[in-house]
Amino acid sequence: MAFSTCAAFIAFAVLSVLGGQGMPIRGSHVTTLTMHDGSIGEIARKVKMLSDNGRAQHITERELDYRRTCAGLHQPLERLRVHAVKQRLDPKIHIQLDRQFLERGSGDWFNVSWSGVTDPRYDDWIALVAPSDANLSETAPAKWKFAAGDPKHVITGSGSLRFRLISYRADVAFALMRNGFDTPQEVARSQPIKRSLSSKPCSSAGAVTVRLLNPNEPLQVHLALTGSPSEMRVQWNTREAGSTPQVRWGPKSVKYDDRDGLGFAGGSDGPAYPSTAAADTSRYGIEDLCGGAATSAGWVDAGHHHVALLTGLRPATRYYYRVGDPDGDGGWSPEFSFLSSPEISPDETVHILAVADMGQAEVDGSLEGSEMIPSLNTTRRMIEEAAASPYSLLLHIGDISYARGYSTQWDNFMHQIEPLAARMPYMVAPGNHERDWPGSGDFFGVEDSGGECGVAYERRFPMPYPGKDKQWYAFAYGPIFFILYSTEHPVGPGSEQYEFIVQALRGVDRRRTPWLVVAGHRPIYVASTNANWPDGDQPVSELLRDALEDLFLEHAVDMTLQGHHHSYQRTCPLYRGVCQPSNDDGTAAAPVHVVLGHAGAGLSLNIVDPLPAWLENLGLWWGYVRMKVSRSQLLVEVVGDDDGHFMDSFELRKPANWGKKYMEVHTRSL
Ligand SMILES: [Fe+2]
Repeated sequence: MAFSTCAAFIAFAVLSVLGGQGMPIRGSHVTTLTMHDGSIGEIARKVKMLSDNGRAQHITERELDYRRTCAGLHQPLERLRVHAVKQRLDPKIHIQLDRQFLERGSGDWFNVSWSGVTDPRYDDWIALVAPSDANLSETAPAKWKFAAGDPKHVITGSGSLRFRLISYRADVAFALMRNGFDTPQEVARSQPIKRSLSSKPCSSAGAVTVRLLNPNEPLQVHLALTGSPSEMRVQWNTREAGSTPQVRWGPKSVKYDDRDGLGFAGGSDGPAYPSTAAADTSRYGIEDLCGGAATSAGWVDAGHHHVALLTGLRPATRYYYRVGDPDGDGGWSPEFSFLSSPEISPDETVHILAVADMGQAEVDGSLEGSEMIPSLNTTRRMIEEAAASPYSLLLHIGDISYARGYSTQWDNFMHQIEPLAARMPYMVAPGNHERDWPGSGDFFGVEDSGGECGVAYERRFPMPYPGKDKQWYAFAYGPIFFILYSTEHPVGPGSEQYEFIVQALRGVDRRRTPWLVVAGHRPIYVASTNANWPDGDQPVSELLRDALEDLFLEHAVDMTLQGHHHSYQRTCPLYRGVCQPSNDDGTAAAPVHVVLGHAGAGLSLNIVDPLPAWLENLGLWWGYVRMKVSRSQLLVEVVGDDDGHFMDSFELRKPANWGKKYMEVHTRSL
């Protein structure tokens, strides 16, 4: 979205909404940390520094200066002028690591120490170079920390910091950089150590380059629905294509461990699940992307993506699986499990999580200026929810990783989301930060994807799209029918997407799925002051209303889900800007529109004042949405990411026979 600036990031650090109660909706109960008092000025403020573990962070003067100048950046790597980097190695400066090997792509901690800086400054920084031989004047580092994060650096010219490393499918190195981000100089680079995998040294003292033991380890495992309840897609990532990538799966857990103590042995028979699903493999290269960072400083080889289809699943059944390649050297993933889709029936009850605009952040505190640090809390809370409750579907309504052309940031995001996305289907819609790029076929033609133009998104998320760059689809899930559409593509009457939405709406059998929810990234209604043309919140919402609002009313859409504006907002049952009284049977007479763009990105504080009458709840805090859906109830709870408080809760209700009556009346009217 457009407003979220450095100010919004700083707000993350200093803003806490202390009081005010939202308005109830049809008997629902709304609790604390929301506001509905007509004025943003009523929000009390206090200083609250958050890190991923909730503790206060040490902040250097240089970091604060950096934060003051990061206006408009969703992706902190954009702060670095990569092509201005000069390499002037200083033999007096040394970098050492306490370990040499990264054994697991899932993340290990390394201590990086340095010495020999004779005139230490606050704008010295330590960069993670991926791959280890990357030219930093051509390729952005994967992350950095200010050297002054160790306070003794500015006194002694030496220090140490801890970094958490995941697999980027290659060896990595560290560099000591000087002169900040505008005229950076690389003065020291850890050097490759040439050893074979079979000659692991007894001591790693003095090690300077991190050797990745298993570059073909299966990474970034995630699931997706296909539109058929008896199927599930499984996707993962490795460096090489391999020869027989596959999923082994079945209804029971299978013990298996092929590690030989150094890496992965490979070549074994693999885990003995009763079923195997072969994968199709693809990759995208720099030639597939459209420009910007994606085809320059942000490009790092993204490896190969494997997609396998599991078929013949029984409804609402837990299945266990691992991904790997019995003929490769990458070994097998840990065992994951998922709950297959329920039957399409009003008698099913389903539990669903939903987010938008989440992004990712570094658990080791790297990329200090990132506005996405709350995404760590949101992710962690949802993982805890999923472990304790029967959540079986995760929706992400656009602005997913905010990689914006820096492919290592996709690696970070996919690693962060894997604990959720490997255990429940992860169904996504494109946002401006996945799709938009001038001349690439999207609706707005702005540069928000950093040149990815939807390619990285589409390859990474095998949604049941009708075709390439047709990023809209529909599926039924228990008693609810979803339509996920793209606000980044033409959606007005006459467009292909519009016709798809019309046909999808007409095809819903409300006797089977009494609930109908439509989701797209940009809001249809939003209390935002952003009226910029052409992609500001207000002109876009007006455009969407003109295109879709009558359709949604005609087909009794119950709720819409959106993001883009980094806040939580919920309307009354609304049509043409007017709250609608309930129907005689107590059901809502128009859709409730929900903005849930508060999952991790810097909050949007550009709220209109006074608030519109149709806005029943506004939350300026981070969190996520959880839903419980049965035949007669759609319960929505909005959970704060810090302590799990309810930012909002509301429910929609229908009589048990509503679907039958609706279809009798509605079918006659068509
Ligand atoms: Fe957005």
